[in-house]
Amino acid sequence: MPDLKLTWLGHSTFLMDSPGGKRILVDPWTLGNPACPDGFKQLDRLDLMLITHGHFDHISDAVQIARATGCLVVCIHETSLWLAGKGVENLQGMNKGGNIPVLAGSSNGPAGITVRMVDARHSCGIQDGDQIVYGGEAAGFVVTFEDGTKVYHSGDTALFGDMALIGERYAPDLALLPIGDLYTMDPADAARAVEMLGVKQVIPMHHSTFDALPGKPEDFVRRVGSRARVVVLEPGQHHVFKKEAALR
Ligand code: NI
Ligand code: MN
Repeated sequence: MPDLKLTWLGHSTFLMDSPGGKRILVDPWTLGNPACPDGFKQLDRLDLMLITHGHFDHISDAVQIARATGCLVVCIHETSLWLAGKGVENLQGMNKGGNIPVLAGSSNGPAGITVRMVDARHSCGIQDGDQIVYGGEAAGFVVTFEDGTKVYHSGDTALFGDMALIGERYAPDLALLPIGDLYTMDPADAARAVEMLGVKQVIPMHHSTFDALPGKPEDFVRRVGSRARVVVLEPGQHHVFKKEAALR
């Protein structure tokens, strides 16, 4: 089975090619995302979309990409109702603590993919014209791939103590954590998150998109030190996750 491949499209947007051949997009912000390379702005094939929360820099292209690809969209209940109102049909609302098989494996093929929604500390209003719609709460996801690899995408969040619980309960192999400051953790808090999660590989996100985000990956790398391998990507670059190289 091939290894999991994660491509950073800038900000919190990741394209994941699963070991079983599925394509997953987390936080669909491509067209309006100034960091997203041109070659990734339009996606034609996608099996699954995960949305952490309703802020524009995480959801702006959800409706357009869902329509273009017909992919399944998974997000928190209230945001799923808003998307349904915008004409998205292939939708799975859920809430924190829940775990669902999303792309079922065949009986004689590889196992499917499961998604657990976990807590995040952040807000979740959806800007809809001149209105702010209640979008539920911001969340994170722990995705378990066909080969058992577990990836934690925290969404936008402050540092919170229950990250230790996420580490204990779900033992992610790889974490995607915001470091930009202002709206999320800064590099120092994100380094503390790495420690609490007990994770051995981490990719920083939600940085460098705007001048207003002062947190930089060099600072994060320095603060994490030898606790974990920090994989710093440029938008459009990918990381192939080698499971055996990251055993806890
Ligand atoms: Ni946000
Ligand atoms: Mn954000």
